[in-house]
Amino acid sequence: MDTGPRSPISVFPADFAWGVATSSHQVEGENANNQWAEWERNGRIKSKDCVGFACDWWRNAEKDFDLAQSLGVNALRLSVEWSRIEPTEGQWDESALARYRQMLNALHGRGIRPFVTLHHFTNPQWFEAKKGFANPESIRLFQRFTQRVVGALGDLCHDWATFNEPNVYVSLGYFLGEFPPGKKGRVMEAAQVTRNLCLAHAAAYRTVHSLQPDANVGWAQHYVVFKPRRPESAVDRWLCGFIQRRFNDNFAEGIQSGRAPFPLNKFGQSLPEVKGTCDFVGINYYSRLRVGFERRSPRTLFFQISVPPHKPQGDSGIEVPYGEVYPQGLRQAVEHFAGFKKPVYILENGVPDREDRIRPWAIESIVSQMRGLLAEGIDLRGYFHWTLTDNFEWNEGWHLRFGLFELDPATQARRPRPSAQVYKRVIRESRLQRVENESWPSETAAVNGNGAHSVEAHSVKKDMLR
Ligand code: BGC
Repeated sequence: MDTGPRSPISVFPADFAWGVATSSHQVEGENANNQWAEWERNGRIKSKDCVGFACDWWRNAEKDFDLAQSLGVNALRLSVEWSRIEPTEGQWDESALARYRQMLNALHGRGIRPFVTLHHFTNPQWFEAKKGFANPESIRLFQRFTQRVVGALGDLCHDWATFNEPNVYVSLGYFLGEFPPGKKGRVMEAAQVTRNLCLAHAAAYRTVHSLQPDANVGWAQHYVVFKPRRPESAVDRWLCGFIQRRFNDNFAEGIQSGRAPFPLNKFGQSLPEVKGTCDFVGINYYSRLRVGFERRSPRTLFFQISVPPHKPQGDSGIEVPYGEVYPQGLRQAVEHFAGFKKPVYILENGVPDREDRIRPWAIESIVSQMRGLLAEGIDLRGYFHWTLTDNFEWNEGWHLRFGLFELDPATQARRPRPSAQVYKRVIRESRLQRVENESWPSETAAVNGNGAHSVEAHSVKKDMLR
């Protein structure tokens, strides 16, 4: 029988979450009551930009939800802003929770599944004044916040991430001094904060499940591929291994095995109550970095990161390169966390690229990596591109642009970059290919052992996807 030309089989499952990712402070606008607003008021944003109305989500997220829908995504990751929900300790703002309900309803109305992050870098100022997660009381306070949020939004959301990138929060806030509270080289304090974050995560995990037994709860783990700057140097190799373990594993190991973060584990501490507290592993993967010994950097314990200039990279940060775009590293990230034996979601991936020079290539390449992983049977459940519309990039302000849509923050005008079309196409193709391949009677007959096959059903499905 002549079967004619065929499209390659799509390995993406029907319920694969194709999404875009965002966070409250970066998109909502006018968040004046968290520690990042204070950081900005203190002149610590390197670009000297102001977050202002950001992407104006507090007043009009729906405008961007329409854009998300136009891309064909079926999922969207956002975070809730603790400083709006609990503006002063123990006082809850019901109108803030009502606005989040509105947003989640608006997503459902567009056929988009919300993934909600409970903590994406921002703390209310009252909480920061109590030393944030350096204070053991933070565990109870975060647990109480989680209870409130899940109580108010649980009927509209099933997928939760407790913390976004605890390893970035700690490394930049307590080790490199780039994020609030701006501390440098605080090895012990960094370990204590990581420990409290592990315990707060575990408490939140249990709280969500007590309210919503079938919830899907995890966290977003930033993973960096590190490589020695001079592979022939034993010092660079050792340093690289050390940093790779500390950065990629310190928090994650608590969840995987109950191990306390380094160096607390060396003093006999462990976290048995944290072990096993995740239903999925969320990976944020962006780049590869070279690590080398540098005797002039005592504040960072003598290491320096770099990117060889000939490697593909997006726009550079104001002081440091953002990283090499290295799509093959996704496999390394996924394999690194294989020991969890849990489903994986890529909760962030993207590139700062104002002119869209390499983003189209980066999207195609990461999708091809995912195809390879799925074909090997890896339980990959979703991919969230960072991000939909240019948003406020923390210390870089409006300098680094990650959006599929370009934003003019002054006028709030949006314009699609070519990448938006690329992302839309790969999503569409992943679905169409599946439908086309499902509608090959001979193949189905071989699988089912009978010739009965509803071609009509597939035509209907195809129509729905147009
Ligand atoms: C963070 C985002 C950030 C993105 C791009 C991630 O590490 O979760 O908030 O905007 O990277 O730098």
